[in-house]
Amino acid sequence: MVPDRRPDNMARITTPELAEAFIAEQVAALQEQIGDQKVLLALSGGVDSSVVAALLIRAVGQHLTCVHVNHGLLRKGEPEQVIQVFRDQMNANLIYVDAVDRFLDKLAGVTDPETKRKIIGGEFIEVFAEEARKLDGIRFLAQGTIWPDILESEQGIKAHHNAGGLPDDMQFELVEPVKILFKDEVRMVGKALGLPDNMVYRQPFPGPGLGVRCPGAITRDRLEAVRESDAILREEFAKNGLADKVWQYFTIVPDFKSTGVKDGKRAFEWFVVIRAVNTADAMTATVEPIPYDLLMHIVDRITHEVPGVNRVLYDLTPKPTGTIEWE
Ligand code: XMP
Repeated sequence: MVPDRRPDNMARITTPELAEAFIAEQVAALQEQIGDQKVLLALSGGVDSSVVAALLIRAVGQHLTCVHVNHGLLRKGEPEQVIQVFRDQMNANLIYVDAVDRFLDKLAGVTDPETKRKIIGGEFIEVFAEEARKLDGIRFLAQGTIWPDILESEQGIKAHHNAGGLPDDMQFELVEPVKILFKDEVRMVGKALGLPDNMVYRQPFPGPGLGVRCPGAITRDRLEAVRESDAILREEFAKNGLADKVWQYFTIVPDFKSTGVKDGKRAFEWFVVIRAVNTADAMTATVEPIPYDLLMHIVDRITHEVPGVNRVLYDLTPKPTGTIEWE
């Protein structure tokens, strides 16, 4: 049986061998806990939920049902990768929910950042609960809770996202197979379970997704500009050795247009902001000094490849006074 709390003397999982030992122990514990009953998991494609999915697939296979909700605020290629890795390669029982219209219709015209977050969080729970209701005989709900989540909730820093606020009539027993692990250990275990590197070493991504990188009311065209510019930034950082070095990097497209010129004609278009920061704990952050030539190359690509964009700005603000995200 895997303990409820991280034992004080537990060795840090720093090698593939230690990861394999944890996996073997956890698979046996999950098989004992779940038996031939059914377990449900909201699979976002982030590191924690992906590792939980891979562990449960190994332990109980088809007794796990994964639900991937595409709320339209994911990065380029993410929903496709979730389907490819989990359904195609790992043969998971995966329900893919295309809820893009539903989320974007609810968010139309909403400018207040906190209201946007609430709508995204609330709608997510509603979509997930609807899918859960369609299924018979689910007894367990799996969650990607990790050890820092538990410590932070005990210290009152943030509420542990326990059961994600599901409606009262939906009572599940929780399955939290990585809850005694630190993030670096979750990654080790994910790698040992055969998850791809770009999933295991994925940078942090906020729950409300690209929604907080589209300041002002979210529109489909601006969202597309965020997604495309983010993909270019990620591609260039990977090609130039910055992907493993910089803690978090992304783009933002505020709801503001300025005058520019394209092909000899006036172009009244948006600007893209690049954010690239380093931090240990996200409480404070410094700005990465991106080499000037690379920055210019990225500006050139974004202004030529992303429709509706005529300028690129680099956010030079550390945290404080800026936060990492813009909303
Ligand atoms: P800020 O903007 O507060 O961000 O400096 C600190 C870190 O937290 C991430 N972040 C979030 N993560 N849900 C999340 O799961 C959220 O609502 C959220 N808001 C910010 C942000 O990406 C950064 O890594």
